[in-house]
Amino acid sequence: MSPDFQQMFEAHQLLSKFYHHLLVNTKDGQHALEYLLNRGFTRESIDKFQIGYSLNSWDFVYKFLTKRKFPEGLMERAGLIIKREKDGSYFDRFRDRIMFPINDRNGNTIAFSGRALGDDDPKYLNSPETPIFNKSKILYNFQSARAHMKKMQRAVLFEGFADVIAADRAGVENGVATMGTSLTDEHIALLKKQVQSITICYDSDNAGKEAAFRASTMLSDAGFQIRVAMMPDGLDPDDYIQANGAEKFRNEVIDGSLTLMAFKILYLRRGKRLQDEGDRLLYIEEVLKEIAKLDKAVEKDLYIRQLAEEFSVSLDALKEQLAGMEKKHS
Ligand code: UTP
Ligand code: MN
Ligand code: MN
Ligand code: MN
Ligand code: MN
Repeated sequence: MSPDFQQMFEAHQLLSKFYHHLLVNTKDGQHALEYLLNRGFTRESIDKFQIGYSLNSWDFVYKFLTKRKFPEGLMERAGLIIKREKDGSYFDRFRDRIMFPINDRNGNTIAFSGRALGDDDPKYLNSPETPIFNKSKILYNFQSARAHMKKMQRAVLFEGFADVIAADRAGVENGVATMGTSLTDEHIALLKKQVQSITICYDSDNAGKEAAFRASTMLSDAGFQIRVAMMPDGLDPDDYIQANGAEKFRNEVIDGSLTLMAFKILYLRRGKRLQDEGDRLLYIEEVLKEIAKLDKAVEKDLYIRQLAEEFSVSLDALKEQLAGMEKKHS
């Protein structure tokens, strides 16, 4: 491995430890710790995920790492400090934020995401792409979740940090997150080595549902068995656990997750007025397209019958239309 990489790992590890120390042991970090505890984070998960706090300072990291002989250029390439154009001096990227270390599959800390304590924009500030961090290849918590994925033969896919951590606290330890970016082929390849079944547990807001629809298509095309967990409108998994507790999350949201087809049916109904003829025809067409993708004849039959019954259309007409789509699909 290049010595540069090794030094970048070391810088991240040292900082990660220090950020954690600042959060849990110091007066400077007290407001951040209170923020987390108020949000339902426990001391146990703060330790397990090595959550920290970056000081409200322009040069704390710069000084901390320079003192330990890390070269400026390396710290900059690692995304930890930023060069000022006007005089070439440096300042810290992360200031006054809750720090989430991001690890690679070997447990090296390779990046950070820092959450604002108030409503600063962005809410989460991430390390940029660096020689050691490529967001499209990294799933948050992959390293810790791996053994649980194997054991459960299933992974749970979340949107973000707080959801993975809340779920872990609720006993769902096979969770990983894409950290806001959409799911990539590299993420899929990573999961493919571990499991065949995935539960998508994205936020139950519009953006989350749309992302879940896209992810479910990509993952089922890649050969995974998919379920999709839903929560009451507007909630994300972390909100849900806070409001309803761990047991309800496991039993109702995770174990009660929808089959792929049931999710798609719900999804395709969104925003449509099914008493309107145009919307109704569009909906039937869209559902038929999804039915055309199913492998099992019995499944196809089941959903066709449901459609026929709900909209009082003839089975024959539906089958004829489906046959046309199946030709295109195969
Ligand atoms: P959300 O907007 O759903 O945030 O983004 P959240 O996870 O619920 O955050 P809390 O509960 O308000 O703290 C989902 C994920 O998208 C990424 C983060 O990984 C976040 O967890 N994200 C979001 C960013 O990278 N930057 C942002 O500014 C916002
Ligand atoms: Mn600790
Ligand atoms: Mn979201
Ligand atoms: Mn969210
Ligand atoms: Mn949230």
